[in-house]
Amino acid sequence: MKATATNPKTNSWWRGAVVYQVYLRSFADGNADGTGDISGLRSRLPYLADLGVDAIWVGPWYASPLLDGGFDITNHREINPLYGTLADAELLIKDVHAQKMRIIVDLVPNHTSMHHPWFQEAMAAPPNHPVRDRYIFRDGHGADGSKPPTNWTSAFGGPAWERSADGQWYLHLFDVSQPDLNWHNQQVQQEFESILEFWLELGVDGFRVDVAHGLCKDRGFPDTNHGSVGSPHPQTPDHAQRPYANHPFWDRDELHEVVRRWRSIVDKYGDRILVAEAWVRPERLPLYIREDEYHHAFNMDFLESDWNASELAQNIFDSHARVATQGSTSTWVMSNHDVMRQSTRLGLPPKTDWRRWPSQPCKAPLDAVLGARRARAAALLTLSLPGSAYLYQGEELGLPEVLNLPTEMIDDPTYQLSGQMLRGRDGCRVPIPWEVSGPSLGFGRNAPWLPQPAEFAHYAVAAQTDDPQSSLSLYRQALALRKAWLNDTDTFEMLDMGKNVLAFQRGNSFVCIVNMGIAPIDVPVGKVLLTSAALINGQLPTDTAAWVISTDSAGSTSAL
Ligand code: NOJ
Repeated sequence: MKATATNPKTNSWWRGAVVYQVYLRSFADGNADGTGDISGLRSRLPYLADLGVDAIWVGPWYASPLLDGGFDITNHREINPLYGTLADAELLIKDVHAQKMRIIVDLVPNHTSMHHPWFQEAMAAPPNHPVRDRYIFRDGHGADGSKPPTNWTSAFGGPAWERSADGQWYLHLFDVSQPDLNWHNQQVQQEFESILEFWLELGVDGFRVDVAHGLCKDRGFPDTNHGSVGSPHPQTPDHAQRPYANHPFWDRDELHEVVRRWRSIVDKYGDRILVAEAWVRPERLPLYIREDEYHHAFNMDFLESDWNASELAQNIFDSHARVATQGSTSTWVMSNHDVMRQSTRLGLPPKTDWRRWPSQPCKAPLDAVLGARRARAAALLTLSLPGSAYLYQGEELGLPEVLNLPTEMIDDPTYQLSGQMLRGRDGCRVPIPWEVSGPSLGFGRNAPWLPQPAEFAHYAVAAQTDDPQSSLSLYRQALALRKAWLNDTDTFEMLDMGKNVLAFQRGNSFVCIVNMGIAPIDVPVGKVLLTSAALINGQLPTDTAAWVISTDSAGSTSAL
């Protein structure tokens, strides 16, 4: 089936951008304190420019006690001193632009830190005082109010309500240290509009909006339907599901009004963007990218698909068709700071619950070689799909998930909140190896905040730079070829090249073909631009992808 995804009238930078996610704490440590920082990132910008990405996304770098990796903010206009100063942030923004890249930052509007002055004020105030209305305080049930106001559960595990000293309960859909803001309160609305303006004035090119499907809660405070999903979030036990219609706290229609106001502010600054992190049912995602709302919304279902040609093809086709209805483009993601790294994930048997797998005493066997091979193929797949692609730092190095972090070093709050059932997300947050030796493999001059396993030395940037077969070289080549051969106005067509083969065509001749079956297959006739593994006797081996400039009518098109 053929489709043209884009509106040829618009050629904004973001529509086909490759955005590199920087997890600042673990990227590069400039001041030798074991934690990544802005000066470290600035020193590595030439690496990112050379890699060929269009933009970077820097996660929350604001003042924070880091009880949830910085998604617990105490001041949205200050940089965490561990990372630097506001002046450093300004220098970074300038440097990024000087390297002809863009920079987007996080906006975390669903909650603050419990140490935010507003929450401190709220806790010190009596029940029903107006300063409490910035958050969600409720009386409990039962004669003495000792039962939580609803049965809502936190995405990190356990109840979503915590009782304050005066007996009222406050809502926290994430960690107990992250009280939810009340988005029906005008001060909250105004404060975030002013925060947006603050960063836009400093020159950022946009925002990735955390928990975009949260924000508004049903003010009737009904219980959730037990037996159906309570908390769609990467760490939730019900992660594979998405919120049901009219869920009391996820994906509520009222939140779109807030987004429309943000969009009108962002639009005043020219070509800046809003990107939604919204874990919602796929058919609801287009609502987030309406013309006057977000520019993009991450396609999380792509990330969650098994390594299966028909499942992935269906996801790609559906996503492409859905975003086209809104005149936007898809946003492909294979990994981020919340999920298992793909070179490990793709080495697990089909249907493995990879969120729970690291904590399971009897584990399905991991095939790390297979995972690494598939991750390379997945890179070519992701980077040739129409739309934008988000890469997560270290993905270009083929880094595996670190599975053996000592439990006493685990930082992710989900570990404790799940009763130590889930090891959490630290395994994908281990600092980047830049050099093959040294106290932190070039990350900094001292031991890093999370220990790197010895095997990380093999993945170091220095070990891969001059190796034409390395993962880094593959990404570099792919990004350069993407620039040369693909653009937004290309038509997009899924191709039927047989069961277990995922294939599509962009424009008149560019074909991406991924062999997910067990036998080698023929490559379309034409010029082979790049493959994720060597061809064998001219054929594409299993778990391999190829980019081909086809001189053939590549295959019959499929209606899926
Ligand atoms: C989504 C972020 O990606 C995740 O890391 C964080 O824990 C939650 N939102 C809460 O802010």
